[in-house]
Amino acid sequence: MSRFYVTTPIYYVNDIPHIGHSYTTIAADILARYNRLRGREVFFLTGTDEHGQKVEKAAREQNRSPKEHSDLMVENFKHLWVKLNISNDAFIRTTDGEHFKTVQGLIQMLWDTGEIEKREYTGWYCTPDERFWTEKEIIDGKCPECGRPVEHLEEENYFFLMSGYQKDLIEYIDRNPSYILPETRRNEVLGFLKNNTLGDLCISRPKSRLSWGIPLPFDESYVTYVWFDALVNYFSATRYLAPHAEKAKLGDFWWPASHHIIGKDILTTHAVYWSTMLMALKLPLPENIFAHGWWTVDGKKMSKSFGNVVDPNEMIEKYGADAFRYFLFREVPFGLDGDFSEHALINRTNTDLANDLGNLLSRTLTMIEKYRGGKIPDPIDSKDRKQLEGKIKARFDPGSETGISGSFNGALTHLQFHHALIQLWDLIKELNEYIASSVPWKETDSDILSNTLYTLAESLRLTALYLYPFMPDAAQNIWSQLGISADINSSNFEELGTWGRLKPGTTIQKTRQLFPRIDTKKENLVKKNPGHKNTRDNVITLDEFAKVELKVGQVLKADRVKGSHKLIKLQVDTGEMRQIVAGIGKTYAPEDLSGKKIVVVTNLQPAQLMGVESQGMLLAATDSNGTLSLLIPEKDIQKGAIIK
Ligand code: MSP
Repeated sequence: MSRFYVTTPIYYVNDIPHIGHSYTTIAADILARYNRLRGREVFFLTGTDEHGQKVEKAAREQNRSPKEHSDLMVENFKHLWVKLNISNDAFIRTTDGEHFKTVQGLIQMLWDTGEIEKREYTGWYCTPDERFWTEKEIIDGKCPECGRPVEHLEEENYFFLMSGYQKDLIEYIDRNPSYILPETRRNEVLGFLKNNTLGDLCISRPKSRLSWGIPLPFDESYVTYVWFDALVNYFSATRYLAPHAEKAKLGDFWWPASHHIIGKDILTTHAVYWSTMLMALKLPLPENIFAHGWWTVDGKKMSKSFGNVVDPNEMIEKYGADAFRYFLFREVPFGLDGDFSEHALINRTNTDLANDLGNLLSRTLTMIEKYRGGKIPDPIDSKDRKQLEGKIKARFDPGSETGISGSFNGALTHLQFHHALIQLWDLIKELNEYIASSVPWKETDSDILSNTLYTLAESLRLTALYLYPFMPDAAQNIWSQLGISADINSSNFEELGTWGRLKPGTTIQKTRQLFPRIDTKKENLVKKNPGHKNTRDNVITLDEFAKVELKVGQVLKADRVKGSHKLIKLQVDTGEMRQIVAGIGKTYAPEDLSGKKIVVVTNLQPAQLMGVESQGMLLAATDSNGTLSLLIPEKDIQKGAIIK
C-alpha cells in the first residue's frame, strides 16, 4: 500500500488562529481525507511552534512560564481543528521531549560532520518573524517580510554552512519540476538562488539572550534558533507520533513527506533552509513544497491593528464548517491570493450548496418518498432510456474517459482544489438537468421511473464520496438521508466507488435541508443594527442561555494595557483567579476598580486583546449617549456566587 504524508506549518503558539491558519490546515485535511479514500496509508501532521523570543516575552508579560503560556495557547488551535473537522493523525509541539531529542541529535550530527561553525554575527533580527536579516536585506531599518522594526545584534553564534549547497540546490530544483509549486514560486526561488550568493545560516542564540529554546548539545550556553528547531518537526514527528513510528525510526517508512503545505510567507525557510539542511543531513528531500497565496480582507492585509482579522470560529458558528471549507477552496485557485468577504461566502453557499447540491438531494428524496414509499427502487433497465442513464453511469465509471474519477484525481494530485470542485459541480448540474429532461413527475412507465430514481440516488451516493474530502459532514449527511448507515470516514473508493452499491429496498431518512438558504437581508439586518438583536430572529432558548456561566467576581488589581486608552487588565477573583481585559478605560480609572464586585462571564473561550490574554468578560451597559456602567450586584454578596 502506498503511503502519503502531508504536513502544515507548525503555527506560532502565540497567535490566535485566523482564516489563514485554517486555510493551510483545511488544504492538508482535504488531501489527507482524499488519500485515505484512495486506500493509501496516511499520516497527516499539524502542530505548534513554541520556542523563541516572542513566546518568552508574551509569557513574561502574563507572569507565566513559557511552557504554561504555551499549554494554554495551544488549546486555541486544538479546539478550532476539532470544530473545523480536521482529521490530523498527530499534533506536534516543539516542546515535546522526543522532538527535543531529535533536534539535538541532528544538530550534533551536523557539528560532527563539520557543517556548523562558530563565528561573530553582526546583523539584524525580527522578533515577530523570528528571522535574521542582513544589512542589505532590511528596508529603511525595517523587516523586509513584515515591515516591523528589527533589532541590531552583535554576538557570537553558530552557523550552518548553507552556502556550500547553493549549486546542489539549484540543480535539484532544476531536475525536479514539481519540487516547489506553484511554478511562479519555483521560478522565484530559482531566480533568487541563481542571482544571489547564498550566505550561511545563523542557527543559534546565546542563552543569555534567549533561554526558551533547545540547547545546542555541544555548547549548552546556546539554544537553537527557532527555525532550525521548527523545520525539524516534519522529520521528528515520523519517529514518535506517526503510526508505525518504530519502523520509521529504522528507515524511510514515512520520510520523505509527500507535501509540505505552507503559505508564501515562509517559502524561503522551507525551499532553501530546510532543503539544504536535509542535504547536509543526507536525508531525502520532500516530494513537494506547495506555497499557497494569502487571504486579505476587503483588499487589506489581515492584522490586529486594522481590526480586520476574520475569526474562523465565528464563521463556523454562522455558516457551518462545511460551507466555510467549501468557500475557501472554491473561491480562489490554490496558489493565488484571495480576498475574503462574508458576502461572497453567502453567495456561494446559496448558489452552489443550497441550490445546486441541496435541491438535487431534496428533490430526489421527495420523489422517492412520493412515488416509491420512501424506499430506494430497483433499477429496472429500460431499452428506451439506455442512452440517458448510460451517460450518467459513465460519469461515475473509474475506467471511463469522461469519468469524474480521473479528472478529480488529476486536480487533487496537483493541489488544484478549485478545479476538482468545478468538475464535481459540472456533474451536479448534469444531474439536475437529468431530472429536468426525465420529467419523473410526468412519467407513466413505472420501470422507467424506478430506473430514474435509482440513478439519481446512486449518483448522489457516489457524489457524496467525492464531496467528502471537502465537506465531510455534508457527505455523511447525504448518505444518512439516502438510508446508508455506513460511516463515510472509513470508506474507500475501491470498495464503494463503483456503480450499483446502493441497495434497492433501503429506506431513505429524509431530514432537514442539507444547506438552508441564507437570507442575506436578515444577515444585513443583524449587522446594521447590532443594538437591536433581540428581534424574533435572535430569540434563544433557555438551554442556550443556560450555557453562559455568570459569576460574581471581585477585582483585586487593575492596570491599563500598555498602548491602549480603552483597555484595562483586571485580576478578578471569581472563586478562582482570572485575568480579564475590558474596554472600560475611558470611563473608569484603574484605581476606581480595585475591590469592586462585578459580574463576569466565566466560561468564555480565552481571547487575546492587544496581545494580552483575557479569560472571560465582564458585563457593562452602554446607552445611546455612550454612557458606560458596570453591572454591580445590588447587595454585598460573596465572590464566586453564581448568577442564574
Ligand atoms: N512557526 C512558523 C512556521 C514554522 S513551519 C516549520 C510560522 N507560523 S505562523 O503561525 O506565522 O503561520 C504561518 C502560516 O499561516 C503561513 O505559512 C500560512 O500557512 C498561514 N497564514 C497566515 N496568514 C495567512 C493569510 N493571511 N492567508 C493565508 N495563509 C496565511 O510562520
